[in-house]
Amino acid sequence: MSPIDRVRSIEWRNTEDFRLDGISYKNALGRRDLRTDEKAVVALKAPDFLEKYAQILEREKVDNIVELGVFQGGSALLFASIFRPLKLVGVDICDPVPALDKILSENPIGRSISIYYNTSQNDEAKLNEIFSREFGTEAIDLIVDDASHLYFETRASFEICFPRLRPGGYYVIEDWGWAHWPGEFQTTSRFVHQRRPMSQLIMRELRQAIESIRIFPAIVFIRKGWATPSGKLNVDDLYLTQGRKFEFSASSQDT
Ligand SMILES: C[S@@+](CC[C@H](N)C(=O)[O-])C[C@H]1O[C@@H](n2cnc3c(N)ncnc32)[C@H](O)[C@@H]1O
Repeated sequence: MSPIDRVRSIEWRNTEDFRLDGISYKNALGRRDLRTDEKAVVALKAPDFLEKYAQILEREKVDNIVELGVFQGGSALLFASIFRPLKLVGVDICDPVPALDKILSENPIGRSISIYYNTSQNDEAKLNEIFSREFGTEAIDLIVDDASHLYFETRASFEICFPRLRPGGYYVIEDWGWAHWPGEFQTTSRFVHQRRPMSQLIMRELRQAIESIRIFPAIVFIRKGWATPSGKLNVDDLYLTQGRKFEFSASSQDT
């Protein structure tokens, strides 16, 4: 079965509950209070997101996956079911989720998954140690950043992880467009209010590293170029401006 066929084989019981590969899931979009338990794994993935992943990566080699921002484990398990990687390494700053660990240890699909809790997406030393332990010198095929959604943390992860991506591999950043979304995102009620927009990173600073980019309102697929310099990455070195300064001008906090 291809990744798209697997996404389409998801059995939806109602708008929240679904099953894939014998595992029950709860879609927690709009319900952040839900937690994984022995009955169901909580996922924050809408069906159209999963389709996008499957469509764009349909013909790609997806043996090694990294997911930053695992939450309750739903997306990690879904990616493992849809792409059947040899290894999926998940990282989250949160405390361990024992119910998820139990499901991973009991289900065959969990054998390819290792989760590292209490780990920040910008902890360079720890991430490098994890990647070396898990992948050795092998390149990563797909990196998904669904963690903080903040500019500096996202940029730090990109600098740490992108060099480990194979040329032609995909770096995906979810929920990048919040500064430009309508409704409550334009009010002070969201934690991202007046933080530095992620669009600065996506639309301007990363251009030189990119073979191609597919931008959707809430998700961006960045394909790594073949000529991207290897070795330590500093986004500032990618973003040449003929000596001019193109400053972001946030009216208040620029954090
Ligand atoms: C949107 S949720 C991830 C949802 C999950 N990928 C899914 O689709 O089911 C974001 C997660 O990122 C984690 N997170 C936030 N800041 C982080 C950071 N600096 N480093 C690592 N994880 C972080 C949070 O603890 C939370 O679990």
